[in-house]
Amino acid sequence: MKILVTGGLGFIGSHTVVELQNEGFDVVVIDNLSNSSIEVLQGIENITAKKPEFENIDLRDKKSVQDFFKKCSDISGVIHFAASKAVGESVENPLLYYENNINTLVYLLQELQQKEEAHFIFSSSCTVYGQASAMPITENAPVQSAMSPYGNTKQIGEEIITDVAKVSSVNAVLLRYFNPIGAHPSVEIGELPLGVPQNLVPFITQTAIGLRKELSVFGDDYPTPDGTAIRDYIHVVDLAKAHVLALQRLFEKKNTEKVETFNVGTGKGSSVLEVITAFEKVTSQKLAHKIVGRREGDVVEAYADTQKANTVLGWKAQSSLEEALESAWRWEQKVRGKMAVCPKQN
Ligand code: UD1
Repeated sequence: MKILVTGGLGFIGSHTVVELQNEGFDVVVIDNLSNSSIEVLQGIENITAKKPEFENIDLRDKKSVQDFFKKCSDISGVIHFAASKAVGESVENPLLYYENNINTLVYLLQELQQKEEAHFIFSSSCTVYGQASAMPITENAPVQSAMSPYGNTKQIGEEIITDVAKVSSVNAVLLRYFNPIGAHPSVEIGELPLGVPQNLVPFITQTAIGLRKELSVFGDDYPTPDGTAIRDYIHVVDLAKAHVLALQRLFEKKNTEKVETFNVGTGKGSSVLEVITAFEKVTSQKLAHKIVGRREGDVVEAYADTQKANTVLGWKAQSSLEEALESAWRWEQKVRGKMAVCPKQN
């Protein structure tokens, strides 16, 4: 079966292409290389001994999307990653986010709804819960008013898919990711943030490698045991596997609703200071950091109730925080060409 992976050269997309190919699926990647590199194709091939088909298509171009589906009428399922994801940028340029994240989704669904059967997996985010009132967060926790245009595109995206599924052949799974980190254990693929990383783990690894002077810890006055904010950090390979299971669930018609939603996290919350300590343990080096004020828009804590994913999807995170951080560190060293100081080789 042939699966279309949009944004398939990005961080989560590329790891998902690997897992799909490992499970025997044929993959066509669509990516416009706006936040990814063509070299990722080679990394995928190095792991799976198979290069996925690749189309450099900008999904904002409706005609190109139509032409693609005319040409590739044998697509059995779509996993849609292609989207912009920087919260701050979305506040500064909201229309860019509505165009990139919403128009593209509409164009894809316009093609899919014409099919006799359509299977669709959507990259959503725990950001839809805002600051949930109870931890861990279940899928029934209310969706709260979005704090950024980026967050809003995830909420609107979920609603669009739900509306379309009601009146069409589209069956969908919405995967609400917690905080994806790490790299493939082969370090053939990993995260490639553009510019100064906004997310915690790439900032940590870039600090450790000497690209950044020190990590700023955003706030130590949160109502948490050590005062720093708590998140659920999930290894990207575990997250990628959840997509394959979600797709298989749709193919096997095991879904009980036309649109199902799953949290994808480990179920374990870690504070920023705990992440730093774990990173220091894994790498046997001190990480330069200082406490600064809170970052606007950050929630105090967010970690997943994973029971639904465990029992219904048959998925459970396998990797520990330490394993994920270790892979992120080896990847950073590889990217910067400093494999000689890799802790695994010392
Ligand atoms: C962020 C987005 C979220 C998005 C996700 C995608 C915000 C407010 N939220 O999640 O909507 O879905 O990325 O990956 O941007 N931290 C530091 N110093 C840093 C960077 C981060 O202390 O230099 C802290 C943050 O305050 C937070 C934790 O580390 O407590 C994780 O931050 P981050 O990796 O940016 O993820 P989220 O904010 O949870």
